[in-house]
Amino acid sequence: MVLNRDVYVLPRNPTEAERLQAQNDHYRSSFGGLLVHPSIQLHECRSILDCCTGTGAWLRDARAAARPDATFDACDLTLEQYDKSHSSADEIFVQDIVQPFAPERHDKYDLVHQRLLTAGIRRDHWVSAIANVAETLKPGGVLNITELNLELVRGSGDPEESEHLKWKNELTREWWQRAGLVHNCADLIPTFMREAGLTNIQAMRVRVPYGAACLSLSMPEYQVESSIRLYGGVSPALKKQWVASGFGTAEEYDAKQEAHEEFLRNEGMWMDVSMVVGIRPI
Ligand SMILES: C[S@@+](CC[C@H](N)C(=O)[O-])C[C@H]1O[C@@H](n2cnc3c(N)ncnc32)[C@H](O)[C@@H]1O
Repeated sequence: MVLNRDVYVLPRNPTEAERLQAQNDHYRSSFGGLLVHPSIQLHECRSILDCCTGTGAWLRDARAAARPDATFDACDLTLEQYDKSHSSADEIFVQDIVQPFAPERHDKYDLVHQRLLTAGIRRDHWVSAIANVAETLKPGGVLNITELNLELVRGSGDPEESEHLKWKNELTREWWQRAGLVHNCADLIPTFMREAGLTNIQAMRVRVPYGAACLSLSMPEYQVESSIRLYGGVSPALKKQWVASGFGTAEEYDAKQEAHEEFLRNEGMWMDVSMVVGIRPI
């Protein structure tokens, strides 16, 4: 048995729950409304699991788009963020995906959706965690994993790194490396899924805009500020790391954060996100 401390490096509290909801909405509009990889026919899936569900935001949207008789279950390491008043799982259970699922959960689902575990699964656990999740699929069932690269890309597309993004990139890289996490999950998930025994792997890459970059996808003006707030939601956690790692003082962080947000207002940035699908062999 693999022993797993909860390595999740983001907070779990009402403010973070609000951020997850806003992130769900921003992803949905950045993906042109897509909830899963386009190769998946959502209306053909009768039994669906939203794995590591968080607030249950994806499940709520997916239920509205799925066939009316589809069942939706949800699981997470902890249910403290799950929003019972808005989400609507038929069954919700506690599960650490680093551990095997109970036998009664095996061979159950046509589709398992899992999104944004970059802050929670250590590099040496990714393949076995995916293999655990895949056991819940019926043979022939499909796993959809959506993950991002934390590396921030300039809104203008200029290959020269801006100092306003460089300091964030260095900070997250350092923190992720120290925690044993994967900084470029979007790039590596296809390999992890293959190593976990899934077949027919396909990936679709989307660039998610923040700040002024939202306007180049014709998103409404208010999304410039709301996306800046969305990325800014992880800033208190980054600030703690910055100070604890001896990079500088809290005041220095605040000044850099302010300049970073101004940069986002003027030029913007992108984050690469991949929707990756694989099939459990029959
Ligand atoms: C960034 S949130 C994403 C939530 C949701 N998937 C979404 O996209 O809105 C990551 C979630 O993964 C959960 N998590 C972290 N480590 C986990 C583990 N080992 N097993 C199960 N869930 C885990 C966290 O509790 C949190 O709810």
